[in-house]
Amino acid sequence: SESTVILGIESSCDDTSAAVIRGNKILSNIAATQQVHNEYGGVVPELASRAHQQNIIPVVSKALIQANIQQKDISAVGFTRGPGLLGSLLVGTSFAKSLAMSLQVPLIEVNHLQAHILAHFIEDANIMPPKFPFLCLTVSGGHTMIVLVKDYFQMQIIGKTIDDAAGEAFDKIGKILQLDYPAGPIIDRMAKEGDPLRFSFSKAKMENYDYSFSGVKTSVLYFIQKLLKEDPTFIQSNIYDLCASVQKTIIDSLMVKLEKASEELGVKEVAIAGGVSANSFLRAEMKKREETLGWNTYIPKFEYTTDNAAMIAMVASLKFERGEFCDLDVSAAARYDL
Ligand code: KG4
Ligand code: ZN
Repeated sequence: SESTVILGIESSCDDTSAAVIRGNKILSNIAATQQVHNEYGGVVPELASRAHQQNIIPVVSKALIQANIQQKDISAVGFTRGPGLLGSLLVGTSFAKSLAMSLQVPLIEVNHLQAHILAHFIEDANIMPPKFPFLCLTVSGGHTMIVLVKDYFQMQIIGKTIDDAAGEAFDKIGKILQLDYPAGPIIDRMAKEGDPLRFSFSKAKMENYDYSFSGVKTSVLYFIQKLLKEDPTFIQSNIYDLCASVQKTIIDSLMVKLEKASEELGVKEVAIAGGVSANSFLRAEMKKREETLGWNTYIPKFEYTTDNAAMIAMVASLKFERGEFCDLDVSAAARYDL
């Protein structure tokens, strides 16, 4: 209801985040991103859990202050139970359990992947939520899948990656191109100055609605190794075209399967979610399909694309209305299906 206030907590990977939701309206959404991983070119689990431990209290305090909410106003605590890095999940889970116990309010567990998708239902005056059933291309650093969303908690995975996730492909190819981690946003930015048709990289042809991205990575790697032998400055002098071409390769293959799913299932409500849904080329390609294919597309606000607690609070508020609470002895789940 309108007076229900829920604190959401997210700690599944390398962002510690807390958010407050009242009704369907987000009052605050605070995140501390961890810089410690940048020099390693990927998330180091041990360092991630330590940083969560340091960040969680300040982040929660900030979320409450910004929402102008006191602890006694909290109706329930929602947290990410999984999937994710176990050591990271444990920090948020333990914190949420302790807080719910001391405040004597219900505890609500949230599936991180459902949250990425249900972020579309966060109230916003300018954005309409998707209508069921809709397709949601869920693309992050850890997951790439096409989900048929029949209702809030009735989701069916109809296609997924058999190897690297799309975000992982951006990050790993970025590393080959000597870019910092995470490379996704950097490639997006540099691609704007480049020619997407300059280089072509082979991509795997997959059955059904499945994806494969490790082939693109290998293709880029061999290509770069070969050209670096001829010209040691090849990467630097072609970085914009390289980024644009890599980005086009990854996004095109995402769109091919999404189009196939839309056509074969007869669903024209199509959404995107997850970290890679921040990608400007993917967003533009989605918008194009409104004209060319008659889709209604749903593109999350930028702050709800990468990991955030607002989406966790959103799912918790839906579960609160249904009375779906969990016991205080709940444990984190590194693997957790939709
Ligand atoms: O959802 P997310 O924050 O974390 C996971 O649950 O994995 O997604 C992070 C991923 C990273 O791989 C990052 O490179 C990618 O999302 N990403 C992008 C962009 N912004 C973030 N990839 C392409 N273009 C972007 N603009
Ligand atoms: Zn995520």
